[in-house]
Amino acid sequence: MEIIIQPDSLQASQVAARIVARLVEDKPRAVLGFATGSTPLPLYRELVRMHRESGLDLSAATTFNLDEYVGISPAHPSSYHSYMWAHLFSHVNIAKGRINIPDGLTRDIPAYCRQYEQAIHSAGGIDIQILGIGTNGHIGFNEPTSSLSSRTRIKTLTEESRRHTAAGFGGPEGVPTHVITMGLGTIMDSRMCLLLAFGKKKARAVARAVEGPVTAMVPGSVLQMHPRTVVVLDREAASELEMAGYYTWVYDHKPDWQRY
Ligand code: PGA
Repeated sequence: MEIIIQPDSLQASQVAARIVARLVEDKPRAVLGFATGSTPLPLYRELVRMHRESGLDLSAATTFNLDEYVGISPAHPSSYHSYMWAHLFSHVNIAKGRINIPDGLTRDIPAYCRQYEQAIHSAGGIDIQILGIGTNGHIGFNEPTSSLSSRTRIKTLTEESRRHTAAGFGGPEGVPTHVITMGLGTIMDSRMCLLLAFGKKKARAVARAVEGPVTAMVPGSVLQMHPRTVVVLDREAASELEMAGYYTWVYDHKPDWQRY
């Protein structure tokens, strides 16, 4: 894993945006895996800015989102469809027909999940998967004890995850109990993973995922087995890392050709 520690979430997100933009410049038909939640918001703002001001062209890209609530229509204001259109898709030039977000209203969830996996495969696989991490260590909605080789499927949210998104559903009671999420095996098939985490409340999950044992109790720890994962943190999210000083030193001494 490569761990990049920046002074704040804005600077961290600018590094992440440069990584995404460089990939798209090198490979205009890139397949981008997107995440939702509060964490990627500054990254999406930066991608929108780059599109408007520096010509970032996403017209040939294909996208796949990690997850969606079951039983929620795309038009629901707290659906992940709504989130993606509000924060990114309405402001850049990704072709509508190449945007893929799990359908929370599908009638046959297992068949739909198999099709979603097939669609990722047919698109050539995900080149870069953006990830946040939950305070319980989840990535996507792969809650603790998820199989480390799981594929896209239905999952039951933990109480903690439902509390986290309660505001958008008028309180925890209103939050859907189930989601469709890419599995840990699906995420691990991406050519590159880009995990972002900001704030003190993520520090423990980050330390467990990056420096702890690989365990289904901390689903993000599976990324230790991924050949190309970059973790971009602000100082607070990095505050419980034992090797933080080393990661900073490594970043500061990167050869020019390796810089983002
Ligand atoms: P957050 O959620 O970005 O809203 O903190 C991350 C997650 O739960 O995966």
